[in-house]
Amino acid sequence: MALILNPSAYRNIVRPLLFRLPPETAQGLAERSLKMGPMWEALSFVLDYHHPSLRTDLAGIALRNPIGLAAGYDKNFEVLPSLTSLGFGYVIGGTVTRDVRPGNPQPRVLRYESDESLVNAYGFPSKGLDHAVTQLEAALPNLMSPVVASVSGLDIDEIVACHRGVEPYVSAVEINISSPNTAGLRVFHDVNVLTDLLNAINDARRKPLFVKLPPFPSTATGGDGANTRATILQLASLCAERGVDVLTVANTQPIQDSRLAVGSGGLSGKLVYDAMLRMVREMREAVGESISINAVGGIFSGRDAFEALSAGADTVQILTSLIYRGPGIVRSINKELSHILELNGIKSVSEIRHAT
Ligand SMILES: Cc1cc2nc3c(=O)[nH]c(=O)nc-3n(C[C@H](O)[C@H](O)[C@H](O)COP(=O)(O)O)c2cc1C
Repeated sequence: MALILNPSAYRNIVRPLLFRLPPETAQGLAERSLKMGPMWEALSFVLDYHHPSLRTDLAGIALRNPIGLAAGYDKNFEVLPSLTSLGFGYVIGGTVTRDVRPGNPQPRVLRYESDESLVNAYGFPSKGLDHAVTQLEAALPNLMSPVVASVSGLDIDEIVACHRGVEPYVSAVEINISSPNTAGLRVFHDVNVLTDLLNAINDARRKPLFVKLPPFPSTATGGDGANTRATILQLASLCAERGVDVLTVANTQPIQDSRLAVGSGGLSGKLVYDAMLRMVREMREAVGESISINAVGGIFSGRDAFEALSAGADTVQILTSLIYRGPGIVRSINKELSHILELNGIKSVSEIRHAT
């Protein structure tokens, strides 16, 4: 068990074995292990790291620490209780779509192992909204931290249906308008269409709303360049104007790779960290204090999290580092972050960006 819980042992011993398998097979094994809910609940003792300085608040949701699990790890809400036992401040399930979708053909996930990065072109495989709601209902009594549901769809009606379906069971809903693997989502990068979507959601919503943005364009990854920096900043300002509570910055970086069945996907992990940090900084300057920001992209350590929070984020999220370093990564980030706060004489994560 120590091999799984200690990030260095995981990296040196467990990961080489797991990475002999194709990425989706390895992920299937991880999910099978996470289905052993009581075991992970018992391990939460070891995995959790509590410190008063880590407690914070995101859009009125009290968090024991600012480290969230990013959308895409548990697409169908099937292992939420175990994921909330890993010590996260919050966990995002999904992205779920209203209808059942197969996603793109395989291969659709690649490892860039020496860079501790991934490329995925899942294209929203989803067991659909009804399945998600059943899973959420069953998970509710066993959740150890707040859960957010990520939803998406190809038109306004589909996204609104998903939002209404999951909202009663979660602390907040995140709308994903930014997967680079689903061309139909670009329609929401038009200010008028996003306005209509947010108006339709606002009509009936009762809980905080997050919007997950695409990253700023990068020439380094040969991305599709469909979004300009100005368009994304415009979308962010619109979100702030329409009362969105939180921006998640950002989704994966578009990249071409001919080994994927569809020829292109989204880059995540260490290779996107610097760009994420720049985007968070610029986004905070653009939106001021009118909206909260979650930073996501290549965060592997407490130092990475501290830099992202200093750049203007309220919380951070991880996904690729969980795959490369195993479940002990959450504790290790939280522990290092609280030490950095102590060394800098900062009393709380919410004070970081005003203190640095
Ligand atoms: C395998 C994989 C699947 C993902 N699926 C989703 C998804 O369904 N919805 C979403 O909003 N983001 C998805 N993402 C993007 C992540 O939530 C996150 O924005 C991105 O990976 C950058 O963070 P990281 O470097 O910590 O992984 C996925 C990422 C990966 C690696």
